[in-house]
Amino acid sequence: MRRPIIVGNWKMNMLISDADEWIAGLLKNSYLTEALDIVVAPAFTSLAVLRDRIEKSGIKLAGQNIGQEIGGSLTGEISATMLKDAGCSYVLLGHSERRQYFAETDEIVNKKISIACNQGLNIIFCVGESLVERNNGRTNEIIEAQLSSGLANLNLIQLSQLAIAYEPVWAIGTGHTATPDQAQDVHLYIRAWGKKLFGTNFAESTRVLYGGSVKPETSKSLMNQSDIDGLLVGKASLKIREFCDIINSLF
Ligand code: PGA
Repeated sequence: MRRPIIVGNWKMNMLISDADEWIAGLLKNSYLTEALDIVVAPAFTSLAVLRDRIEKSGIKLAGQNIGQEIGGSLTGEISATMLKDAGCSYVLLGHSERRQYFAETDEIVNKKISIACNQGLNIIFCVGESLVERNNGRTNEIIEAQLSSGLANLNLIQLSQLAIAYEPVWAIGTGHTATPDQAQDVHLYIRAWGKKLFGTNFAESTRVLYGGSVKPETSKSLMNQSDIDGLLVGKASLKIREFCDIINSLF
């Protein structure tokens, strides 16, 4: 049985004062962490504030990125150890915005996943096709290529720290959520790929999240699909009311 997981990805939004108000709303629902993982990925500047607020609540923190080295002279970067120090147990890696705007290749993503695993972080590894790729019937091929390169040379112990997020690029920030059937098809494909490469235990225990314009109106029907184990929520996570509505739609 895979434990459901809902992740809020704030991207480059929200100040410390916004975070403080937001978390007060979420804490009212924190009893739900008995039934599912609730994870928040704020900007780095809000991490330590949230860490202190969520203590003992069961809510978890994620970083939105890490640098591609363990540490050292890399101005502007943040390490996996720093994220842990600031209260994170998760990190998002391979997000399409990082791939698109910061030239993160599959090789870089692979390196970051390996570092995050070795430093004991849980990883939410994002993959997804563009609209042109989907329209050309290349969705599965693109997903498979991203998975194979991103997870190259990782062992089963490292892979046990992994969740995969299917995030079609055409659905992110566009308001066009994938239909439950579209998402389920790709999730099933990801699971079948995982079974072929890493075995039944990996395939059955690894959580696969959907992300891309998730809203309170679409969350339940997505989560009703047998291979959708969680949701990665961007815009709708910025308003605490909407984020809580998404969490509550599961019950
Ligand atoms: P969105 O973002 O919900 O605003 O589409 C999702 C994501 O990029 O993780």
